[in-house]
Parts: sequence; structure tokens; C-alpha cells
Amino acid sequence: MSKLAVIIPAAGSGSRMGARVPKPFLKLRGVSILEHTIRAFARVDEVDQIIVSTSSEWIIEVKTILENFKGEVKSLDVVVGGKERQDSIYNAFSKISVEIDLIAVHDAVRPFICKELIKECCETASAVGGAIVAVPAKDTIKKVNIDLVINSTPDRSDLWQAQTPQIFQKNLLIEAYDSAIQEKFMGTDDASLVERIGGVVKIIEGDRRNLKITYPIDLKVAELILDERGEE
Ligand code: CTP
Ligand code: MG
Repeated sequence: MSKLAVIIPAAGSGSRMGARVPKPFLKLRGVSILEHTIRAFARVDEVDQIIVSTSSEWIIEVKTILENFKGEVKSLDVVVGGKERQDSIYNAFSKISVEIDLIAVHDAVRPFICKELIKECCETASAVGGAIVAVPAKDTIKKVNIDLVINSTPDRSDLWQAQTPQIFQKNLLIEAYDSAIQEKFMGTDDASLVERIGGVVKIIEGDRRNLKITYPIDLKVAELILDERGEE
């Protein structure tokens, strides 16, 4: 069984949500979104390490949340995040233990990831290099110029919406990040950094419940999903 480290970026400001506190610390039926997310991973046998990246004001709160998982996960850490999501993830690499085989990156604000998808991503990443959860694009996507005039309409059947987790062999992900930092490349997900150094990344078809809580409406949907699952 591969040993998995999970990096959870939780250092964003949540500008689109517009709440008083950043999204990972908003509560869903009394429990923070971050805690729901950590619980989803703590349940998976392969998970040996969880590293949360957050802003300096939230370090103490994250430590308190992590206390609840002592004994369940071998190693629990928190690091200070950075300006962009990519910086927040990079900062967590300093804590990765030597015995780790695979690294998963998972947004703090996707609390509904299921165990089966995490395991499937681990198996595929072990075999090919990387695996990410994604769903087929449901809207038609347009490529536009600066004046919003449409340039082209890519065939929707080839398009997938990337989610997280995004799981990679440890050395491959670290090499991809080192290269991106060196060449000042900023990607919008982790796979894009691995793709640019020629790594193989496969898609695992996920489900639409693994939403990224972004806007106020997503919080309402999240409560419905939680009630449907009958937990907490
Ligand atoms: N994140 C991070 N460090 C950053 C920016 C984002 O760790 N500098 C994290 C967020 O906390 C979140 C995840 O990356 O868990 C996905 O980002 P997003 O949904 O965009 O969250 P925010 O950046 O907080 O929201 P917004 O873009 O609306 O400000
Ligand atoms: Mg953001």
C-alpha cells in the first residue's frame, strides 16, 4: 500500500464568498468546512500525513482542528500559505516525510470527496504518474479575444472540469513545482505543472457533489448534500 501525504491549501481570502471569515472556517451544520474535508481523508488507510497551509492568523485555529485527528493520522502539520494557491502548496513541501510515496493536493473547500475516488486516484497515480478527479464539461466553453468576441468553440466532448484531489508520485510533483518556480510559471491547478514537464496525468471521472464551495449559493447546496448524507 502506498503512503499518501495530503496537502490542503486553506490560505485563500474567499473574496467571491464575501464572508467575514475565509471559507475553510465557515461552518456547515456546526462543523468547519476544513474539518469536514480533513475527515474525508483521515478515513482513508493510505493517508499517513496531512499538511494544511493557511494564513498566519489562522494557524492556531487549524492546530485546534488537527487535534481532533491525533491517533487517526500519523503526522499532522500546518504551514503558512502564500500569495497564490500554488505558493501555499509549495510551502507545504518542506514538511513531507521521507517515507511518503504519493502526494495529494485537495482544496480545503471541497468537503464532499469520497473515499473510493481518493483510492482510485492513488492507484492510477502509482501506475502512471498522476491522476486527478474531473467531471465532463456541462456548459459549452468559448474561447474569446480581449473584446469578448468569440474566437472558437472547442468540442465539448473533449473538455473536462478539473477538480481535486490531484494525486502524483512524490518526486514528479516536487520536480514540477521546482521547475514552475524557477521559470515563474503560474498554473491554475497542480496537474498543469506536471503536464508542462511531460508527466502523464490521467482523469478519474468524479461526481458533481465534490463541489468547490466558492459563492454563497454553494453553501446552501453544501448543506443539502450534507443532510442527504445524514452526517454531522
Ligand atoms: N488558497 C490558498 N492560498 C491562496 C489562495 C487560495 O491556500 N493564496 C486555497 C483556498 O483557501 C481554497 C483553495 O485554495 O481552499 C481553492 O481556492 P479558491 O476556491 O479560489 O479560494 P479563495 O482563493 O479563498 O477564494 P476567492 O478566489 O474567491 O478569493
Ligand atoms: Mg482563489
